[in-house]
Amino acid sequence: MIYLDNAATTSIDPSTLDLIQESLKKDWANPSATYQEGQHVAEKLRQAREKLAKILAVDPHEIIFTSGATEGTNAVFYQVAKQYKSGHVITSNVEHSCVRANAERLASLGFEVTYLPVNEEGIITSEQVQAALREDTRLVSLMTVNNETGVIFPIREIGEILAEHPCYFHTDAVQSVSTVDWDFEGWHVDFATFSAHKFRAPKGVGILYVKDPARFSSLLVGGGQESGHRAGTENVPYIVGMAHSLEITRAHLKDHRENYQALTDYLLEKMDEQGIRYRVNGSRSAHSPHILNLYLPGKEASQWLILADLAGIMISAGSACSAGSLKPSPVLTAMFGEGDERLLSSVRISFGLETSREDLDHLIDVFKKGQRS
Ligand SMILES: Cc1ncc(COP(=O)(O)O)c(C=O)c1O
Repeated sequence: MIYLDNAATTSIDPSTLDLIQESLKKDWANPSATYQEGQHVAEKLRQAREKLAKILAVDPHEIIFTSGATEGTNAVFYQVAKQYKSGHVITSNVEHSCVRANAERLASLGFEVTYLPVNEEGIITSEQVQAALREDTRLVSLMTVNNETGVIFPIREIGEILAEHPCYFHTDAVQSVSTVDWDFEGWHVDFATFSAHKFRAPKGVGILYVKDPARFSSLLVGGGQESGHRAGTENVPYIVGMAHSLEITRAHLKDHRENYQALTDYLLEKMDEQGIRYRVNGSRSAHSPHILNLYLPGKEASQWLILADLAGIMISAGSACSAGSLKPSPVLTAMFGEGDERLLSSVRISFGLETSREDLDHLIDVFKKGQRS
């Protein structure tokens, strides 16, 4: 099988798997327990938090362990709802559904939400944020890297605009992990959300970075774990694994970028050579090279997915499949407008560490045959 859907999830790194298995055997005590076994696990948790804080260049007490980015995002929006009761929120019209759904919920609670429209390249500008900003803006939530197109938003420039404003700034950093240089402090970000399964660690664990945890209210209430910021016994083996995976991923950022860019260039060059008709959806410059969204005329996305699947290749659509019918992707709809032919014939290819040129040769074969049949 050829896996080209790493934006959806990644396989677990073998060294991470070993660490987790060992930790599951050894670190089973409750990290909140006062006896030595518990304290040993608490120490593992502390070390993982410290390691992660170092990688994110933040303070360890600003790291809150969650079940993933969806929970982290819910926690951010809950904080805004609880603290302010009303006001204005800015987001974009291409955010992941976990942000979109939370923005809609705030709207249903009486907040006013501005959805900044992207251009045809899938980009928003800091000027758009500046123009939308109001005195009563409570939250700006904009993703670092788009999960369908790989387009990178100008988070640093936006942060500079927001630095003097009292609103919170949240970035969904899920898709930025393998390719983007971080500077959360320099970006003036108050919250950043991550999911471990996007960087070769298991599902069900993630990080919420909170710049000022002192005024942060927990979404989950119960026990006093995570210094009272997130109730529930921590999954220490998975957290240990997540810290290791993040460490090895971030140690090779430049290599990842170069490798994914070379794979992209190879794929597009070969497609040109073979006369395959395509267009790249999204900016080619403000772009993370691990995601490539392609418009491939001649077949609908669902047909491309089936043809790829029959050839043992896993890719996904720029469209979400629901109840057997293809719904146009909100991201591509935002970029091109309703009714555009690109909405129904686009696919997402996303590279990972194990992706090879031979994998892409097989995919090219599928595209070539598909456009000829
Ligand atoms: C950009 C982005 N944000 C948020 C999420 C949600 O992550 P999870 O389902 O792990 O909570 C995803 C996962 O697809 C994503 O790609």
